[in-house]
Amino acid sequence: MRRVVWATFIALLSLGSAAYADNYPSHPITIVVPFAAGGPSDAMARILGERMKATLGEAVLVENVTGAGGSIGVGRAVRAAPDGYTVSFGHLGTHVCNGAIYRLGYDLVDDLEPVVLLPSNPMIIVSKTAVPATSLAELLAWLKARPSPATAGTAGAGSGSHVAGLYFENVTGLKLQYVPYRGTAPALNDLVAGQIDLMIDQTSNSINQVRAGTIRAYAVTDAKRVESAPDIPTTDEAGLPGFHMTLWSGMWVPKRTPKEIVARLNAAVVEALNDHSVRKQLGNLGLQIPAGDRLSPEELGLWQKAEIAKWWPMIRAAEVKVE
Ligand code: MLT
Repeated sequence: MRRVVWATFIALLSLGSAAYADNYPSHPITIVVPFAAGGPSDAMARILGERMKATLGEAVLVENVTGAGGSIGVGRAVRAAPDGYTVSFGHLGTHVCNGAIYRLGYDLVDDLEPVVLLPSNPMIIVSKTAVPATSLAELLAWLKARPSPATAGTAGAGSGSHVAGLYFENVTGLKLQYVPYRGTAPALNDLVAGQIDLMIDQTSNSINQVRAGTIRAYAVTDAKRVESAPDIPTTDEAGLPGFHMTLWSGMWVPKRTPKEIVARLNAAVVEALNDHSVRKQLGNLGLQIPAGDRLSPEELGLWQKAEIAKWWPMIRAAEVKVE
């Protein structure tokens, strides 16, 4: 059956992708989010998907395909038909770092077509409320004095929360005991419940729990504070100068997806990012929307390659072991 779909599609493609694109979309589109529902990636995909529906005239659904630091969900999208109906949602972790950790069975650059760069957010250092520290300096002292490494929740090896942990270890010389989950939503639940000690999470995921006082925040990994959380210091202010990490997201489609369809999807996302209520929702989560001149598919392609060159050496040096 799949072979028939493919053959029909390739035949249509040869009839001219322009003609094919004219009828696009003619049924719902699926965004594959490689992490658990309720997490930061899922939240952003759903906010954008809801608004894209208005532009594209078809439902934009979210499917959560989790595991292996997001590499399983990305693999699902890579193997999908290049017809514009399967979109790969991901970020620095899934579409850059995983390439330096896993034998993926696909190439993050050669097997995917960039569609658009999405909002980014600094990471935030948070802990369970039982940790006897109220500042980053006290947290570092507590971590240093511990007989065994503290437990740190992540969304799996290669995920944003894990790479932030590797970078934190690199900068502080401290060791962390990673506890992998299928996303930072379930990890955050365990942090609130005091089952794990800390996370270096996306601000957009932890910010509401910080506001609710169910977890404690120490710093955001950026040179400037987050507008919607002005009371949380930067790592520069809190005593870890230069420990900066911003997790950016993006959308891709399978290679050979007609460029007219890539352009259609890109336009729908750009329209969503310019929508007042979408911007308000994203801003409230501490997400920063890229400038307009960074929203072309080509820009995402260039940025992804630059980030691969930047992050792979550090990750490879960390010799991350995955099953
Ligand atoms: C998630 O949505 O769970 C996150 O993006 C995971 C992560 O990379 O930390």
